Amino acid sequence: MPSRILSIFGTRPEAIKMAPLVKQLEASSGIESVVCVTGQHQQMLDQVLDLFEIKPHHNLALMTGNQTLNGLAARLIASLDEVLATVQPDRVLVHGDTTTASAAALAAFHRRIPIGHVEAGLRTGNLMQPWPEEMNRRVVDVMSDLMFAPTASSRANLEQETLHGKIIVTGNTVIDALNLTTARIDNDAALCAELDARLPFLDGALPVLLVTGHRRESFGEGFANICAALAELASTNTVQIVYPVHLNPNVRGPVRESLGHARNVHLIDPLDYLSFVRLMQRASIILTDSGGVQEEAPALGKPVLVMRDVTERPEAVAAGTVRLVGTQCDSIVSAVLGLIEDARQRDEFAHRVNPYGDGHASRRIVAALTGRAVEEFASGGSTGGASGAGHPHAADVARVRFAATVH
Ligand code: UD1
Ligand code: UDP
Repeated sequence: MPSRILSIFGTRPEAIKMAPLVKQLEASSGIESVVCVTGQHQQMLDQVLDLFEIKPHHNLALMTGNQTLNGLAARLIASLDEVLATVQPDRVLVHGDTTTASAAALAAFHRRIPIGHVEAGLRTGNLMQPWPEEMNRRVVDVMSDLMFAPTASSRANLEQETLHGKIIVTGNTVIDALNLTTARIDNDAALCAELDARLPFLDGALPVLLVTGHRRESFGEGFANICAALAELASTNTVQIVYPVHLNPNVRGPVRESLGHARNVHLIDPLDYLSFVRLMQRASIILTDSGGVQEEAPALGKPVLVMRDVTERPEAVAAGTVRLVGTQCDSIVSAVLGLIEDARQRDEFAHRVNPYGDGHASRRIVAALTGRAVEEFASGGSTGGASGAGHPHAADVARVRFAATVH
């Protein structure tokens, strides 16, 4: 009897990071793969499902406008309980640190269904930054019996806590998704040209500053500072800003209000992943508070300035391609202008490193789920572009072997 694995996810980043794993699960003979999307996100989730051609068996369509965390969590637990009762999975897989992840893990735990946590072990040590994600990822790990840690440092975080699950270092599946996507773009000149044509307003002579921002802890003053910094940068006429604005109304409102008419600022709707990866390739600098972008941009050789005070992704900071700049207007402006004016600094900042994965994380997770030997990923900061990252240098891969127990 194949093991019935239920993958549950609901937001854009979870979908991007679970997509390559779902494909591997579907292709595995020892596994019956069932997918449930919660619809915590709607349009931003559908974009990913379309791109990776994933047809969920269950779509709960739970999103409401400007949803509250408790309202969402309550709807998630009630609806997921029905799905668990119907599917009767041998195991549930959840991803990362969203409300979908923590509620799905709790619903599975209440039914005594084993939980595998993909992207386990990220920590800032501060429950309020990021809020509520730091709590979500911690409670999921408490309930999980398999923890798929992306890097050695996430494993070390887990080892410091009193947890009962087995830890396997797999690399982050985001690099699997990125490699699949860059391969499509890099091997198809017509597609590449079509993606570029979707942003006809871009001026070939000005460097592109790509911006994303959505964190709940930055709502209010944090976003006001970020917008003021962007307005000041745009007014220097040394950079063009492209900002695909997250659909959360707490982001959209203030951003549109303060930057809607600014010169050199292009506020656009969230891009599908293919278009966004192409835009990252074209960007000179990326300014973001996104977790996924912090993992992807180093693999593309793009300098990343992170508008946060702490990060749970220290690997790229250590590798020198990601820098924390906080959410104060002055520090954001001076960091961006410093990089624009100093080509040497930009070059140093922009070397390609892949501390987050080698493109084989999904394969390792499926091997562990089917009780096969796993060669763990070692985050040695391997160099190489995203497309070439599917072939890790032998020295970067720890030869650690074991067979994971599957329930
Ligand atoms: C959520 C996650 C966050 C993750 C982020 C990725 C939680 C608590 N937060 O934050 O960890 O980093 O997703 O983007 O799990 N909306 C739409 N359409 C969409 C998506 C969102 O209209 O496709 C609007 C809705 O009004 C929705 C609101 O955004 O109510 C907030 O969505 P929600 O998922 O609660 O929070 P995010 O800020 O997106
Ligand atoms: N992304 C995208 N379109 C966009 C902006 C981001 O496809 O317009 C991708 C990005 O490449 C990354 C993921 O979405 O893989 C990050 O999602 P988000 O920033 O919403 O969440 P986080 O990673 O911070 O949880």
